[in-house]
Amino acid sequence: MTYRHVGRLRGVTATAVPEIIQGGMGVAVSGWRLARTVAAEGQLGVVSGVALDVVMVRRLQDGDPGGHVRRALARFPVPGVAEQIVDRWYRPEGRPPGTPYRTVPKLTAAPDPAHQDLVVAAAFVEVFLAKEGHEGTVGLNLLEKIRLATPATLYGALLAGVDVVLVGAGIPDRIPGLLDRLTRHETVALPLDVEGAEAGEETNVELEPRRVLAGTVLPDLRRPVFLAIVSSVVLATYLARDPSRRPDGFVVEGASAGGHNAPPRGRQQLDDSGQPIYGPRDVVDPGAMAALGLPFWLAGSYGREGRLEDARAAGAAGIQVGTAFAYSRESGLDDALRLRVLDEVREGASVRTDPLASPTGYPFKVVDVEGTAGVPDVAAARRRVCDLGYLRVAYRKADGSVGYRCPAEPVDAYVRKGGRVEDTVGRLCLCNGLLAAVGLGQVRAGGRAEPPLVTAGEDLARIARDVPDAPPSAADVLRGLTVPTARSHRPR
Ligand SMILES: Cc1cc2nc3c(=O)[nH]c(=O)nc-3n(C[C@H](O)[C@H](O)[C@H](O)COP(=O)(O)O)c2cc1C
Repeated sequence: MTYRHVGRLRGVTATAVPEIIQGGMGVAVSGWRLARTVAAEGQLGVVSGVALDVVMVRRLQDGDPGGHVRRALARFPVPGVAEQIVDRWYRPEGRPPGTPYRTVPKLTAAPDPAHQDLVVAAAFVEVFLAKEGHEGTVGLNLLEKIRLATPATLYGALLAGVDVVLVGAGIPDRIPGLLDRLTRHETVALPLDVEGAEAGEETNVELEPRRVLAGTVLPDLRRPVFLAIVSSVVLATYLARDPSRRPDGFVVEGASAGGHNAPPRGRQQLDDSGQPIYGPRDVVDPGAMAALGLPFWLAGSYGREGRLEDARAAGAAGIQVGTAFAYSRESGLDDALRLRVLDEVREGASVRTDPLASPTGYPFKVVDVEGTAGVPDVAAARRRVCDLGYLRVAYRKADGSVGYRCPAEPVDAYVRKGGRVEDTVGRLCLCNGLLAAVGLGQVRAGGRAEPPLVTAGEDLARIARDVPDAPPSAADVLRGLTVPTARSHRPR
């Protein structure tokens, strides 16, 4: 197996990053089970770092099947924090059917310390479980757009010994500095974009590691490798140019990938079906990436035989694959939903790039499976509610204080907060929809379940066709990526 060594520039312990990266997939699609399987097979298993606090407390309310969360919490460096979490959230018998989950408060720039501890502990748990029982390499994926949880999630992951951090969906120029400081248990302040803020007004998301560890012995931490997820050479060049923001490598993600996509360059144009049109300017030239002198992995429809070789021939260190793992057995997607998606895709359901669905404003891939929020009727019938709030953006209120709003929240509330009504059109609640897709959906008044929302890359149709009745394991997926193609082995 080929390994690339990155991280030398900083003088940190070099961590080997394998040639195949199982992409981070939120919320909890790439949970610890999938990441652990991939890492134990010798490739990079990545857990999603999105909304881990709510994921953990919902697993605890469901009775913590297998005792995994509690086993990991028992290893959290501050036993008092772990005990409080178990006392507050664990329900030994699980939730009676139809009972709503108790929920965590929405994050703000100045969270209650106990909530910050919960986020740190949740990230610790996810990475701890992904690393348990093997010597492989585990990564954590974060979205730049969700800054409110970033310092606490990174710190929790560091405490559990995360090897690689991957951040996309924005300009992750602050991550190298954050990782340097958090590795030394130093206080960090991550600036938050506040819409309408006046010059000189700054709002930061702060984390004080020494408060979190509250008098316990500070463990020695290893600085993880940082890979920036980019979709343009312009952004990669900007990041690579300055040592303070330079990552250790890149994942270069094309527009066919699952989840969020970068918007097309230039003015956005839509085709007849309402999907953004991507053109030659959106295709990244691997030669230009190679010229930056940092290793890079290619993503977006690389999840099949022969593509690893293609990527390496183009100068890449390897590939990042998402969709093929999302539909493997260890994926966090609800089992029944996963099979239904594959069935319906075989029958003609499709993946579309929706320019409006995500409150972030980035295009988002949606699969139009019956009964899910990807179908317009289901989305329209859902009563808007914002009780999780991970994608809220900060704005300046008239009195100078900071408020939070999301274009997928109830329209009148959004408009009352100064948001524009046209920005609410077509928005889906990714928080509730994605949690429902992994079997952790909220139950509303009258017993109505939140509809799931399914995302996947354009590879899904091929995967649905090729996958036999029983979905493959993640190890099978890996074997399919590394087996030499029949083509290349055919005698001439
Ligand atoms: C279900 C799903 C969820 C995803 N969520 C995220 C995410 O939270 N953060 C991220 O950086 N990428 C996310 N991605 C993108 C993957 O990490 C990966 O880059 C992409 O899927 C690669 O392209 P492929 O789907 O064609 O293999 C997601 C992809 C899928 C399929």
